Amino acid sequence: NDMAIPSANERAEKLQGMGCKRKRVEDIRFTQGRGNYVDDVKLPGMLFGDFVRSPFAHARIKSIDTSRAKALPGVVAVLTAADLKPLNLHYMPTLAGDVQAVLADEKVLFQNQEVAFVIATDRYIAADAIELVQVEYDQLPVLVDPFKSMDPDAPLLREDIKDKMDGAHGPRKHYNHIFTWEVGDQTATDVAFENAEVTIKELITYHRVHPSPLETCQCLASFDKIKGELTVWGTFQAPHVVRTVVSLLSKIPEHKIHVIAPDIGGGFGNKVGVYPGYVCSIVASIVTGLPVKWVEDRVENLSSTSFARDYHMTTEIAATKDGRVTGLRVHVLADHGAFDACADPMKWPAGFFNIVTGSYDFPVAHCAVDGVYTNKASGGVAYRCSFRVTEAAYCIERAMDIMAQKLGMDPAEFRMRNFIKREQFPYHSALGWEYDSGDYHTAMQKVLDAVGYKQLREEQKAKQEAFRRGETRELMGIGVIHFTEIVGAGPSRNCDILGIAMFDSAEIRIHPTGSIIARLGTKSQGQGHETTYGQIIATELGIPSELITIEEGNTDTAPYGLGTYGSRSTPVSGAATAVAARKIKAKAQMIAAHLLEVHDDDLEWDIDRFRVKGNPERSKTMTEIAWAAYNSPPPGMEPGLEAVSYYDPPNMTYPFGAYICVCDVDVDTGEVKIRRFYALDDCGTRINPMIIEGQIHGGLTEAFGIAMGQEIAYDEDGNVLTASFQDYFIPTSVETPHWETDWTTTPSPHHPIGAKGVGESPNVGGVPCFSNAVNDAFKFLGSTHIQMPHDAWRIWTVAEKLGLHA
Ligand code: CDP
Repeated sequence: NDMAIPSANERAEKLQGMGCKRKRVEDIRFTQGRGNYVDDVKLPGMLFGDFVRSPFAHARIKSIDTSRAKALPGVVAVLTAADLKPLNLHYMPTLAGDVQAVLADEKVLFQNQEVAFVIATDRYIAADAIELVQVEYDQLPVLVDPFKSMDPDAPLLREDIKDKMDGAHGPRKHYNHIFTWEVGDQTATDVAFENAEVTIKELITYHRVHPSPLETCQCLASFDKIKGELTVWGTFQAPHVVRTVVSLLSKIPEHKIHVIAPDIGGGFGNKVGVYPGYVCSIVASIVTGLPVKWVEDRVENLSSTSFARDYHMTTEIAATKDGRVTGLRVHVLADHGAFDACADPMKWPAGFFNIVTGSYDFPVAHCAVDGVYTNKASGGVAYRCSFRVTEAAYCIERAMDIMAQKLGMDPAEFRMRNFIKREQFPYHSALGWEYDSGDYHTAMQKVLDAVGYKQLREEQKAKQEAFRRGETRELMGIGVIHFTEIVGAGPSRNCDILGIAMFDSAEIRIHPTGSIIARLGTKSQGQGHETTYGQIIATELGIPSELITIEEGNTDTAPYGLGTYGSRSTPVSGAATAVAARKIKAKAQMIAAHLLEVHDDDLEWDIDRFRVKGNPERSKTMTEIAWAAYNSPPPGMEPGLEAVSYYDPPNMTYPFGAYICVCDVDVDTGEVKIRRFYALDDCGTRINPMIIEGQIHGGLTEAFGIAMGQEIAYDEDGNVLTASFQDYFIPTSVETPHWETDWTTTPSPHHPIGAKGVGESPNVGGVPCFSNAVNDAFKFLGSTHIQMPHDAWRIWTVAEKLGLHA
């Protein structure tokens, strides 16, 4: 300690800790093609599996003849439901308490459903063999429209549960009904509507879309007969949960199952559930004794694994004439497809849809959701969203605009009037949540000022007059939204997946020379965890983040966790990281006290070291302490310097944001040009502002895709019409608008570092913002609500209906 200590600033900068724009360490391998994805994993003798899929949306299977396929050289086996039945694996449990066919048993329920699994020595042979499997079908009447699911004469879809009138979430009203879920005070809400001065009612549909990550779902299963051990590499957002589910299903003891999620090329909710491809690969590996790989192609990904949304929300708001909301009533018809495979905590069949009161102080609210079956792919995953939050945000943000329009009020002003006020936090919502912190007025005002909102409205007015005079064929729309999110599932009292409570974990180990390995229960799919968890540890422990390795995704080494989805990594594992680091720091303080021969109370923390209070020249750096932990710990203390935390959050975190979008609509082509998009996000304490900005850019781009063109559409026979990127809109850099980002910081009061999640926020807030902008353009012509997606054809049709082409 004789040498001059570098300045506090220099030391803090060297750590590259929280708040700094540290470059993403994982990108060094990603940008050089050195990532290690499932399809990069190759094992000796590896076989390939591929599915025979149904061409029909609803049909009885009369027969399956696999003989010609089996005769093709290179084909090792063909599995059908008949092979899985004796193992009781022809159906598997879903995350939502339903069962799903692994291979179609007697009938198919959606187009491209898995019917048989061909295993061959080569991927191309497997594909050829598929064509040789002969399946005879008898077509049945197809049910596509969820509004017809519960008709008295609707086709019966799920024969396997037709007599089961009690589902996983209570009584079923019809053979195609899954559940009814209700929250809020119905009587008080009805009274509010009876007494309302103004009401609106609108069917607001959030159409069926798909997360469509660049890397499709895939796995490689390898069963070692000698050891009785199974290793599965897969694109798993929640590897530990997969291990537990596989153990429960296969009866292989959990310690003999090794689940490894290597690098993942995007998940967005698509990679949370368990798919038939995983089960079939595992069974095939056990049967053949060889490793079996299954890789989805794009058509399979879009048409068979996990759709998102498909919520049909009949929404009513009650308000006073001067623009105060007095009640909210929502009924949702939820199209779940053929099997209820929604990824929600067990208690919540409609996820966190009851955040639908949004950012507004509704005194009363009631919401009911009916889930129904149709002949479509199953799923209901949270596409960059916490369990139906994005549907809720879309619902309330469209409805608030419709009410503002009816009241003749400006949508921003109407929102400001009804915001939950800063002093009301922690705020108890009418539907039962406790919002942790927020300052909505400040955020909204900052955005209005930044874009020059008043001038924009004046410009819009002038353009509307010019349009009426026939001087322009362009309309201008201004979309305003304010969202409140609920992320970080979850307190274990509320949230579990198949009985496993939703906590998360971090384990930190400091080596003698002061470098660190930390392992977590979450799993990055591109979010940059290797960079940001290191920053939390660097700040907490005073070790430079470049000396910290972050590891996720190997269930043998990582502590048990529930995985990454719904922006829960920062709220839950981020908290666990800080807590584990603080345990280490407490031990480090005792070691430092011993080395400095003072009482631990006489020490204070100073960026990267403990120093003696009032005598700052006497100090021990964390690096010195680490060495001492392995070499000269205080008498009676165990050597070593490591800790683990399993963190059960006391509450979720409630990030929020105010977005504004300005667009110009050509009524003759239907084309919408996004002129400006300004997004202000508040995710509490910010760990890495650059990564946050990247998350916002990505989420807004997805939101743009959803609002402006994406749709998983079916014809009346249940043929999926948008199963490739030729028909399913993925914005490229050519279409993607320029994003402007901003922030305020309102820390979470219950999170150890005050951080809230952010990953999904831009998707949640972005979609209603685009939609409000498009709707806003047509408002002055008497239009109240235009359904998404807002592609050129549909917008042209709207203009046609409004008589603008006459
Ligand atoms: O669970 P997921 O990783 O998808 O979402 P998240 O917790 O919102 O984190 C997404 C990325 O943003 C991670 O790299 C976080 O570390 C980073 N982040 C941040 O820097 N500051 C925050 N307050 C929240 C997230």
